Amino acid sequence: MFGRGSGKRTPRIMPQKGKKARILVVDDELAICQLLCERLTLEGYECATSAHTEAARLRLAEEQFDLIISDLRMPGISGLDLLKEVRTKYPHLAFVMCTGEDDVRVGIESMKQGASDYLVKPLQLDGVVASVERALEKQRLQIELQRHRDRLEEMVEQRTRQLQVAIRRIEQTYDETLAALGAALELRDIETQGHSRRVTHYCLEIARGLHCPVEELRVIARGSFLHDIGKIGIPDAILLKPDRLSEEETFLMQTHARIGYELVCRIAFLTPAAQIILTHQERYDGTGYPQGLRGEEIPLGSRIFAVADTLDAMTSDRPYRTSLPFSAASEEIVGQAGRQFDPDVVRVFQSIPEEVWRKIRREATERPQSGIAALAGIISGLEAPGGLSLAATSAFRQN
Ligand SMILES: [Fe+2]
Repeated sequence: MFGRGSGKRTPRIMPQKGKKARILVVDDELAICQLLCERLTLEGYECATSAHTEAARLRLAEEQFDLIISDLRMPGISGLDLLKEVRTKYPHLAFVMCTGEDDVRVGIESMKQGASDYLVKPLQLDGVVASVERALEKQRLQIELQRHRDRLEEMVEQRTRQLQVAIRRIEQTYDETLAALGAALELRDIETQGHSRRVTHYCLEIARGLHCPVEELRVIARGSFLHDIGKIGIPDAILLKPDRLSEEETFLMQTHARIGYELVCRIAFLTPAAQIILTHQERYDGTGYPQGLRGEEIPLGSRIFAVADTLDAMTSDRPYRTSLPFSAASEEIVGQAGRQFDPDVVRVFQSIPEEVWRKIRREATERPQSGIAALAGIISGLEAPGGLSLAATSAFRQN
């Protein structure tokens, strides 16, 4: 049956077990109304009458019915107009149209408009009862079908939500795993502690300025965070050597890009990020290593990384010098546009206020042990509405 009003909801299957349906008879001939009501009541239905369509509309708004038997020709609003209104407002309400003998075509038209059946006057009461039963059975099946569809949709939505949660958990596990790898490298290479995290944030800030899509930001975050993971394969004597490296040692040190690539390229979720690891030491003018790529042969993530890496290296203390101011780093980066760096990336870098870089660095320093979850925090920040906020610093706050 239907509740009051016309809200879109699936009605209960009508009528309830053991209870006959409620029927509204609409006819301007009082005798027909009485005749139909008497017979339908005898059949166990609950019956009400309206002498014209306007009265029927009011009753429908106030009461619950399962079926309408309406005359086609009535003063004022016709039975066909009432049918159209019922189909819109009460789509699951069964409707049987009664027509005069001359109106058979209109009766067929009524069925096209959604009537369950039509009856031709003079009415045969047995025929009316049979028609009512058929119409109610048809409506019952339609409602059951709709409920079945609703249940299926609900199940699909529920499964989709569960799948999304599972995917998020897997993604988080991925990021925590690679954050642990990055942390392992930092334990060996004390000099660059915090470097990977800072560079990752710097990269994301520039990448957002270049309007990179979220999926690319994710790749850039992973690639820049693990850029030096290959240093795990470099002997301590070289990695931690305080003096200048010999030519042979430099060559060995440079293998870290390929070692890192080989280490992660076979891990499916890191394959795109592996390209950044392999090419993070390339230079825009082709004088970098290991492949000597130039210009746009170098993945965008690596061209962004080159700027971020220099920014962090110059503004960090080294055994042989103290940190330089951001202005000096900025000057160096701008001076190297078109040589070491992609000029487009440099332009975006220049458009970002110095305070942003200071803020990223400050927050990273205040929480040096932001730990393994740092990268997971960065990645989850990518999904926030509007992408990463200023300096992507929310990731540090989360840890
Ligand atoms: Fe490197």
